[in-house]
Amino acid sequence: MAEEKKVLYSAMQATGVLHIGNYYGALRNWIDLCEEYECFYAVADLHALTVRQDPAALRKSARNVLMMFIAAGLDPEKNCIYFQSHVPAHAELSWIMNCFTYMGELNRMTQFKDKSAKHSDNINAGLFTYPVLMASDILLYQTSVVPVGVDQKQHLEITRDIAERFNSIYGDVFTIPEPYFGKAGARIMSLADPTKKMSKSDENPNGCVYVLDDKDTIIRKFKKAVTDSDTQVVYSDTKPGIMNLIDIYRSATGKTVQEVESEFEGRGYGEFKLAVGETVADSMAPVRARFEELSRDKAYVDSIIKTNGERAAYAAGKTLRKVQKKVGLPERIR
Ligand code: TYM
Repeated sequence: MAEEKKVLYSAMQATGVLHIGNYYGALRNWIDLCEEYECFYAVADLHALTVRQDPAALRKSARNVLMMFIAAGLDPEKNCIYFQSHVPAHAELSWIMNCFTYMGELNRMTQFKDKSAKHSDNINAGLFTYPVLMASDILLYQTSVVPVGVDQKQHLEITRDIAERFNSIYGDVFTIPEPYFGKAGARIMSLADPTKKMSKSDENPNGCVYVLDDKDTIIRKFKKAVTDSDTQVVYSDTKPGIMNLIDIYRSATGKTVQEVESEFEGRGYGEFKLAVGETVADSMAPVRARFEELSRDKAYVDSIIKTNGERAAYAAGKTLRKVQKKVGLPERIR
C-alpha cells in the first residue's frame, strides 16, 4: 500500500490584495509542495474580522485571494484551496482550544501588541485570541508542516505549545507541526522603510508592491526604494535597503548573493533598482494575466470553492469529533 502523504497547511488573510512579500515569502514556495505533501491552503476570512471590514469589500478580496492562489500556480485539483469560514470546525475547535490557552501566553504575542497599537479604538477579544484560531486551523488537519514567512514564527510556537499541552492530557490527539521558512524572501521589507516588513498597511504607498500592480507602477516603486548614500551593491547589515533589494532579486531569479553582487559590481544603485523592478514586474505578469482570466470564469471558481470546501470540511470533521469526544462532550445520537 502507498504510504500516506504528510499534511501541509498554510493560510493567508482575506484582506486586500497580495503583495510581493506574501508572494515570495509564502505563496510562490507552495507550488511544488503538493508532490510531497497533502496540501491545504485557506483564505483566512474569519481572521480578517479582527479588524473592522466593509462587508462587500471583504467578500470581494476573499475571493481575489483565492483566485490569486490559483493564478500563482497552485493546482486546485492537487491542493485543497478553500475559505476558512466554509468549514465550521475551525470556529468550533477554536473555542475548545481557547480553554487550553493561557492569557499570559497570548499577552506575549507581538502581533497582538502591534495590532492593538494600530487599532486602539477596536482592541477586541478576537484580536487577542487570533493565535488560538490560527492554531486550530493548523491542528484540525493533523498538519506536519506549515510554510510561512518568519513573521509567523511566534504563532507557530504557541500552536505547538497548545497542541503539546492538549496531548499531554488526552494522549496523541494532534500532530505537532513544524514551521517551514522559505530560503530567500522569508522576510521582504518595505521599500519605503527597509527596517519594517512589507505590509498592506504601510503608510507610504511606495513601500508596498502588489502582485497586481502594473509594470510601470512596479518599476516606479523600485526606483523610489529607500537605500543608503553609498553606491556599491553589497549584502551587508549596514545597508538594509540594498539587502532587501538583493533578497527580492534573489527571490525572483533564484541567484545567490555572490552572483547578484558580481552582476552589479561597479554599476551603481540606479541601474540595480531598475533591474530589480523590471525582473519583478516580468515575473508577476503571468500571474496577473491568469488572475484576470479567472476573474472572468465565475463558474469554474465557484466549483473549486464548493468541492474544495467540502474536502476540507471532511478532513477537519474527523479531528474535531475526536477532540469533542476526548474532552467529554456528549455523543451525538444518529
Ligand atoms: P498574512 O496574511 O499576514 O501573510 C500570509 C503569508 O505571507 C507571509 N508574509 C511575508 N513573507 C515575507 N515578507 C513579508 N513582508 C511578508 N508579509 C507576509 C506570512 O508569513 C504568511 O506566510 N496569521 C496568518 C494567516 C493564517 C495562517 C493560518 C498561516 C491564518 N491561519 C494557519 C498559517 C497557518 C497571517 O496573517 O498571514
